[in-house]
Amino acid sequence: MTERIASARSCSNIAFIKYWGNRDNALRLPSNGSISMNLRGLETVTTACFSKRFSEDRFILNHVEQSGEALARMSKHIDFIREMAQSRERVSVVSENSFPTGVGIASSASGFAALTVAACSALELGLNERELSRIARLGSGSACRSIPGGFVEWPATDNEHDSFASPFAGPDHWALVDLVAVVSERHKAVGSTGGHALASTSALQSARVADTPRRLMICREAITNKDFLTLANIIEEDTLMMHGVMMTSRPSLIYWNPPTMAVMSHVLELRMSGIPVAFTIDAGPNVHVISTQDYSDMLTQNLRGINGVTDVLRAVPGDPTVAITEHLAFS
Ligand code: DP6
Repeated sequence: MTERIASARSCSNIAFIKYWGNRDNALRLPSNGSISMNLRGLETVTTACFSKRFSEDRFILNHVEQSGEALARMSKHIDFIREMAQSRERVSVVSENSFPTGVGIASSASGFAALTVAACSALELGLNERELSRIARLGSGSACRSIPGGFVEWPATDNEHDSFASPFAGPDHWALVDLVAVVSERHKAVGSTGGHALASTSALQSARVADTPRRLMICREAITNKDFLTLANIIEEDTLMMHGVMMTSRPSLIYWNPPTMAVMSHVLELRMSGIPVAFTIDAGPNVHVISTQDYSDMLTQNLRGINGVTDVLRAVPGDPTVAITEHLAFS
């Protein structure tokens, strides 16, 4: 057999308690634990094909052949997997996101989770969920949380072998929705990887990290008890703490723009009027508006009416990353 091929589908995830800053940047050992929800509706499908006939690695993302940093990051991740499989075969990877490209929605979580499962399946490594999560983490920290399904926690452990994410509630546990209010289509100047490296330059980071066990506990319990108001307050507090660190880093990282703030104040007004809704924001200007699924249509319409909101994407709690039998074409 000259070719070994496998594919995987992965959901992206939204962090309710954010990962920001590493104790070890190379190993992606986080400074603090995080909690997230997998997002069905914001997904990546990836096919990995290994062959002795290939002379170099190739990476086609959303029908565009990648080079430079994107290709190097993919190859470096595959190197870990090749080493485990004791293989020297080059790989061709083709990957597609279900969500529109260039709208500032990060695809590294679903991307590295799908890549990990596709490559490990192709090389028949026979790994369990924990091992796959640990390997996905080396490609992108948040990707380790996209390996299990539903509501997931990635603790901050001392040992790199224990650094993986585990689910604590399945996707059917709570019918939440994530409505992503897209407010900018521009590529951000500093991505997450660069941002993590700056976190410790903020005087606020140590206080944020020290307080994380409290936020994790409140968030975990709010999800377990389906207590929306407690969830709303803790995820907003957590987001504002992370953006406080970003804004006070040297150099400062200010990801918000005026429509970001318009959406945030709109969400707060809606919650004051009794609607279960909250915001959370990653390393970019787009706002993830979290609510329960019965408010989806009403909120989508509402968000579309805000000046500067160009699109609203919808996602619900998602499944684990799985190997699939349909392969993407390498053309
Ligand atoms: C703000 O996982 O994208 O979204 O490991 O460098 O790829 P790398 O970083 P990444 O960081 C995610 C940062 C965040 C918060 C979160 O998802 O927890």
